[in-house]
Amino acid sequence: MDVVRRVRAMKEACAAARAEGKTVGFVPTMGALHDGHLSLVRRVRAQADLTVVSIFVNPTQFGSSEDFARYPRDLVHDADVLAREGVDILFAPEADEMYPPGEATFVEVAGLSDKLEGRSRPGHFRGVATVVTKLFEIVAPHVAAFGQKDAQQVLIIKTLARDLMMDVEVLVLPTKREEDGLAMSSRNVLLTPDERRAARAIPRALEAVRTALEAGEREPGKLLAAGKAILVEAPLLRIDYVELVDPDKLDPVAKVQGAMLLVVAVFAGSTRLIDNVVLRS
Ligand code: PAF
Repeated sequence: MDVVRRVRAMKEACAAARAEGKTVGFVPTMGALHDGHLSLVRRVRAQADLTVVSIFVNPTQFGSSEDFARYPRDLVHDADVLAREGVDILFAPEADEMYPPGEATFVEVAGLSDKLEGRSRPGHFRGVATVVTKLFEIVAPHVAAFGQKDAQQVLIIKTLARDLMMDVEVLVLPTKREEDGLAMSSRNVLLTPDERRAARAIPRALEAVRTALEAGEREPGKLLAAGKAILVEAPLLRIDYVELVDPDKLDPVAKVQGAMLLVVAVFAGSTRLIDNVVLRS
């Protein structure tokens, strides 16, 4: 596996592969890799001739009071894991390579970016959309994969790829879960043992809403109450939001019908965790 640190070198490697008629598959990450990331890598590898993974802890998607400094980083371990997965190129740029001095251009997906995560983390999706646009421009992948755990992020990335007329197929793969149901996330390693135990309440809350729906409950407020009751009881968890939203627009549903996205964001201590499931009535 080649490790590339420079934008220019990365562009050249991908352009050369394309010129040889190879397809390029891409998995953008912020590192601290877990099995969720590896499922994306395997899926892309099965489809593309050249597999590129990026590791870049993107400063512009963290607010000033957020966990940029403590976000887990272990490039040596991650590189080893990716090499064993058969990844061809690891792109691991420094921040000034991705954001050279004088940088003045940002990408903003209007409408979707201010809801849910965007409401709690102003500017977060501007940072995500900007860095993903840059990464897509550098790698120019035929296919790129993301996890459903970040449902709002994938919706925003699909929208920007469509609106900016990018020739990239955006794949969304199912959330990988630990044995007790907790969604895999790089941030899980930041949890203390007590917070980790408390975090089990998140998948249980999602399940409680599903069970209430299957039992015939049709009032969004009552469905959400079934999930919130479980989160409120869990020690060390603080709810940011629990909402039932339209999966395309992310607006709260007024009526239970068709496909709905149940989204949860909580703090376990100072660590923010999100999860979601698609429900169908
Ligand atoms: O999901 C992530 O790891 C990041 O938000 C992404 C897509 C790599 C952009 O920094």
